Amino acid sequence: MSKNRILVIGASGQIGSDLIPRLIDRYGNNNVVAGVYNCELPDDLKNIIPDVSIDVTKYDQIEKAIIDNKIDVVYNLASILSTLAEKEFQLAYEVNFNGTLNVFEATRNTEVKQLIAVSSIAAFGDRSPKINTPNDTIQNPNTIYGISKVFTELLGNYYFEKKGLDVRGVRFPGIISWKVEPTAGTTDYAVEIFYGAILNKSYTCFLAPDTRLPMMYMPDAISALISLSECDSSRLKHRVDYNVASMDFTPAELAIEIKRKIPDFEMNYEIDYSRQEIADSWPSSLDDSAARAEWDWDPKFNLSGMVDDMFENLTAKLIDGPIHLP
Ligand code: SER
Repeated sequence: MSKNRILVIGASGQIGSDLIPRLIDRYGNNNVVAGVYNCELPDDLKNIIPDVSIDVTKYDQIEKAIIDNKIDVVYNLASILSTLAEKEFQLAYEVNFNGTLNVFEATRNTEVKQLIAVSSIAAFGDRSPKINTPNDTIQNPNTIYGISKVFTELLGNYYFEKKGLDVRGVRFPGIISWKVEPTAGTTDYAVEIFYGAILNKSYTCFLAPDTRLPMMYMPDAISALISLSECDSSRLKHRVDYNVASMDFTPAELAIEIKRKIPDFEMNYEIDYSRQEIADSWPSSLDDSAARAEWDWDPKFNLSGMVDDMFENLTAKLIDGPIHLP
């Protein structure tokens, strides 16, 4: 196992909160550092790994964290998601563009060997093929979040080709998880619905019943990041723009699955047209054959497997008492 020292920027967000325990399991708590913004690590991690305060809009904070902790690998998960980015344009620009550039520059200017950056289905737009969207196709995102993800992808190629930085990353679909809720994304309904089902046996969905989007359960998302990070670089023909897919569904289809667990669950719809417009511009499903061929991407969870696991863990968290992280 590699002895790399890893910094996760955005460690307390939806993905970071699940990534950190898996990195600790794999590489040891002496090799993982959490970069947090305006919050503390959860109690079970606080005394296990160091945390450092990082605002990605401040270049010096990133560079200092890397140098002080002798970091070799950086995961940058800091991002303002699609819905909030449309409302807070300037903040989204600062974090998603300037912050991303700061992370690229800080990794290039230090001893970092590898940068994992994250893109999204939001990097596609309404002229991209909607069904089985290919890895390499037209991209015309019309959200500031999506534009920032294309910027991240192109910057990844540029820093790899021109500056020799080993940048890698995937285009994530909507990610479903139970530890930490996502904030201000367009795919968040697929997480909120579980809270509604468990706590109130009902949920009012902000997307229309037939809105099909690609989705993924968190354990597969974490596996994607770690497998791609560990893959032999010579196999990779892409850098930050790998489609990764495992399931796609509509709110109506998810509601049917939820009813399997809670037969009297009630689904209502109150469409938020700004989020509906964003969702309608995104793919319904993705072709992820490049990831499968180049780094053996092989997700484990389908829709019913994800629903079973979400119910088990979220019920334990909300009803039966707090779950302790490994
Ligand atoms: N989950 C994200 C969002 O909804 C998409 O990457 O903004």
